[in-house]
Amino acid sequence: MVALRVGVGRETAAGERRVALVPDAVGRLREMGLDVLIESGAGTAAWHPDSAYGEAGAEVVSTAELYERADIIVTVRRPDTAALRAGQTVIGMLRPFGDPDYVRELAARNVTAIAFEGLPRTISAAQTMDAMTSQDNIAGYKAAVLAAATYGRFFPLLVTAAGTARPAQVLVLGAGVAGLQAIGTARRLGAVVTGYDIRPEAEGDITSLGAQFLRLGSGPQGSGTGGYARALTPEEQRAQQEELARHIARHDVVITTARVPGRRPPLLVTEAALKGMRAGSVVVDLAASDLGGNVEGSRPGETIVTDDGVTVIGAADLAATMPSAASTAYSSNVRALLGHLIRDGALAIDLNDPIQAGVVITHAGEVVHPAFGGDS
Ligand code: NAI
Repeated sequence: MVALRVGVGRETAAGERRVALVPDAVGRLREMGLDVLIESGAGTAAWHPDSAYGEAGAEVVSTAELYERADIIVTVRRPDTAALRAGQTVIGMLRPFGDPDYVRELAARNVTAIAFEGLPRTISAAQTMDAMTSQDNIAGYKAAVLAAATYGRFFPLLVTAAGTARPAQVLVLGAGVAGLQAIGTARRLGAVVTGYDIRPEAEGDITSLGAQFLRLGSGPQGSGTGGYARALTPEEQRAQQEELARHIARHDVVITTARVPGRRPPLLVTEAALKGMRAGSVVVDLAASDLGGNVEGSRPGETIVTDDGVTVIGAADLAATMPSAASTAYSSNVRALLGHLIRDGALAIDLNDPIQAGVVITHAGEVVHPAFGGDS
């Protein structure tokens, strides 16, 4: 039987330095009976030269050859849809939800699209495949480090002959995977940290990291389904913003990570709240996106200094700025998902399997994911 060929493309998005598979994983895929093709230069930005893939048993190929010969393309971000051919499978962080046109196009091309975003994360068997967690964890860490590097004062309490520096007051809004890692990292850097979330169950997670939990008097509570938050009503959101602004004003650093699946990120730090902050304060918006982020006026990939001297960092895709750690973790997630999808050397699509029902978006020319209402 001819072995299935897994192809790894070079990422093309600006600033994207990750690679979907690191050389260490190549041998593991070969043990699973798979062949690995790697596009020349795919790992370079993550410090993995072509030669390392060659030594691990992969075949280094051109872009055209990759898309022609691979049965399964593994990718970090969306690959060029036009390069995919009928019958091919693509696995990656494809951002399918909220983009039905993209999904329809994949189905029309008869591409089987498998997206990490649909993974049912609370199923324990899915945890090794959870790329959203592995990448958010890295983003949360980097957000705290970036905030510390940008802030013009110390994070820890320092007593020196030249005087005493008080510790930085850090507020983390949204305590999911990224937020909790930002809290832990800011604590390790010595800051005094407060965490906030609308899911009441986040309180225990926040305090177990040695941070304080911020409880709002207006206190909207927002547990939705699957462990995610629900969207607040406009009235709840206004009350939350107004009350948060008073707390934001007494912090030196604010890191925001709040998201609600399938919605634009909630606005937590308004322009008025930014105005209330002291000059020299730093705000890192991990939710920054083209649709807007948690911070009014933040823009993905841009750093703005307001007229009042507050630095606002629109920190989309921070995991891409730690390409070695991020690629190693992502590669494990890819390997685990492939291990789940491949049976006896062939791709075994089974929509009755709860993990596959979450991640398989298009198959056999149809949009099969329930989020698209059977729309094909
Ligand atoms: P996310 O990226 O969707 O959102 C980040 C955080 O923002 C969440 O904690 C959410 O509650 C919060 N948030 C949303 N709207 C908000 C608002 N208006 N104000 C304040 N906070 C707001 O969340 P993430 O990191 O993907 O985690 C979602 C859930 O999934 C969590 O409950 C997490 O513990 C759970 N999870 C479970 C896993 C497992 O069981 N293995 C693995 C990963 C996540």
